[in-house]
Amino acid sequence: MKNLYSSKYGPWIIGLAISLGVAVAVVVLALVAATVTFRRAEVASVYNNKKVDIKGIQPDSSVWGQNYPREYETWKRTADMNFKSKHLGNIPQNSLSDRPDMVILWAGYAFARDYSAPRGHFYTIEDMRGTLRTGSPGVDEQKDLQPSTCWSCKSPDVPRMIEQMGAEDFYKSPWSSMGPQIVNSIGCADCHNPANMDLTITRPALREAYQRLGRDIDQAPIQEKRSLVCAQCHVEYYFQGDGKYLTFPWDNGYTMENMETYYDEADYADWTHAVSKTRMLKAQHPDWELFLLGPHGQKGLSCADCHMPYISEGGVKFSDHQLVSPLNNISSSCQVCHRDSEETLKELVYFNQDRLLETRNRLEPELAKTHILTKMAIDGGISDEELAPVRALIRQAQWRWDFGVASHGASFHAPVETQRILSHGLDKTLQAQLLLKDLFRAHNLEIGELPDISTKEKAQQFIGLNPQKLNEQKAMFLTSVVPQWLEEAKAQGRI
Ligand code: HEC
Ligand code: HEC
Ligand code: HEC
Ligand code: HEC
Repeated sequence: MKNLYSSKYGPWIIGLAISLGVAVAVVVLALVAATVTFRRAEVASVYNNKKVDIKGIQPDSSVWGQNYPREYETWKRTADMNFKSKHLGNIPQNSLSDRPDMVILWAGYAFARDYSAPRGHFYTIEDMRGTLRTGSPGVDEQKDLQPSTCWSCKSPDVPRMIEQMGAEDFYKSPWSSMGPQIVNSIGCADCHNPANMDLTITRPALREAYQRLGRDIDQAPIQEKRSLVCAQCHVEYYFQGDGKYLTFPWDNGYTMENMETYYDEADYADWTHAVSKTRMLKAQHPDWELFLLGPHGQKGLSCADCHMPYISEGGVKFSDHQLVSPLNNISSSCQVCHRDSEETLKELVYFNQDRLLETRNRLEPELAKTHILTKMAIDGGISDEELAPVRALIRQAQWRWDFGVASHGASFHAPVETQRILSHGLDKTLQAQLLLKDLFRAHNLEIGELPDISTKEKAQQFIGLNPQKLNEQKAMFLTSVVPQWLEEAKAQGRI
């Protein structure tokens, strides 16, 4: 057999290059580990100057801020909306207007109503109340579209409520019932134990997923915890059973295929597609899982290494708590390890992102078209039985599309894996179209004219939504229901 490494240089020189590469990486990681240990020691002195004694789950981050003003001041900057890189940034952007095909992909599911690119943690509560995905309960006799499970990744009031009522009862209560309770955006109590400031896992779903894999999450090494605090929310998940119990589908492993098998074995579907009548899966945002498969994840870096770089201020070193695109601060986040210029590093990020976008731009419209062609087949009298293999491919294709796209950082975190996933998505989509063409021919059906879905509004009308009405109801909800929530929260001394 041919040597895997054979090339014009011969295997030995490549072996040498690899050893050198590994040596450099080991030194880099040793340095990272050293800084982490060094700084943790430094932190101890801060604890001795505590101004307030925090007991239990304190959801108000300003109280913690009295003890840790540097972290608090940078945490407040998650409110900033002043950064834009080539594809991302902390400015909200209506994704459905940018890409109306996504309305078709999510037809029959709440995401077809509203979907925006994320912004800073400061806005989690405001954005949750404001999105059309939660509906406008209490307006025009509307009921809740979502259970309280939806609040899970939004606020330190969530662990507070779970402690009070138990996870099971919390998840299954209607979303609006928690409106007066959940008022603080993501803060210190989501990630820290106030007694010693150790990183802590406050979300049952992550603990339970680790338990099922036979691991005790509290024993995870600190470098892993510097990612696990993010994996409480930046992961794939689903709402299990009638109790809508928040569950991470990792029992078979963390890859796209592992999780697909998990869902298939449970015969699980998030919803039935309104256009193609396919039983669909919705991928959430497998940021952590995909990160593990990328070059930095495989070298043992953690999320905090880039998203929470160290800053020095008056001789004190601390972690930047702004949690934004690392391109906002390349010198602290990348150049600690890489000697390349800011320009080069930025270009390396865009290089991967642009190439992923090429595949996405091929896949997304073809997948939307496949849903519509399937509807034409249904309308033309083609049976569910004949359409079963088409629907199986659509389910698989869209799971791949969503998995690769919903993790906003993945095109940089794990470019090869994400390209692999999207290209399988494109393959499955085109296979479904080939099967459909055969069915059309066998039934002597003409492929009709495709609808105009060139804007969000047109696409929403095609799937039977009335965007104007939804917006009016939301405006009413924000001016009538939410103020009542806030009054109640004030009366109970929570804000
Ligand atoms: C309690 C859940 C939760 C935890 C824990 C969490 N996040 Fe987030 N994160 C969110 C949500 C929700 C959003 C979207 C907020 C919005 O758009 O309103 C978000 C947004 C972001 C963004 C986008 C910000 C922007 O400016 O566009 C980044 C980056 C991010 N998180 C990184 C992290 C990192 C790194 C960690 C761990 C150190 C982490 N998050 C921990 C829930 C969480
Ligand atoms: C999304 C999770 C997350 C949130 C929210 C968060 N932190 Fe941290 N914090 C971290 C991580 C990760 C570290 C790095 C820990 C390490 O390396 O040991 C850290 C470190 C710290 C440290 C140790 C010193 C340092 O700066 O490295 C302090 C003190 C601290 N945070 C205070 C706060 C305060 C105060 C808040 C709220 C205003 C807060 N944190 C919110 C994740 C978080
Ligand atoms: C090696 C550095 C690095 C590490 C480690 C890293 N990221 Fe990122 N992350 C980036 C870069 C670079 C981007 C793209 C930013 C851009 O395009 O502006 C990004 C983007 C993101 C985004 C999208 C931000 C937005 O504005 O939409 C999220 C969310 C995110 N990362 C979360 C995480 C999580 C969670 C982890 C750990 C599992 C992690 N990152 C680890 C460098 C890193
Ligand atoms: C804590 C150290 C560290 C930080 C911080 C860091 N990197 Fe890296 N980076 C590495 C290591 C280690 C590798 C893998 C090197 C290898 O395998 O030869 C790597 C590899 C890369 C690669 C090559 C990836 C590939 O396909 O093999 C790029 C591009 C890169 N980093 C960009 C960045 C950018 C941009 C940032 C800031 C957002 C960043 N890195 C932050 C340590 C770091």
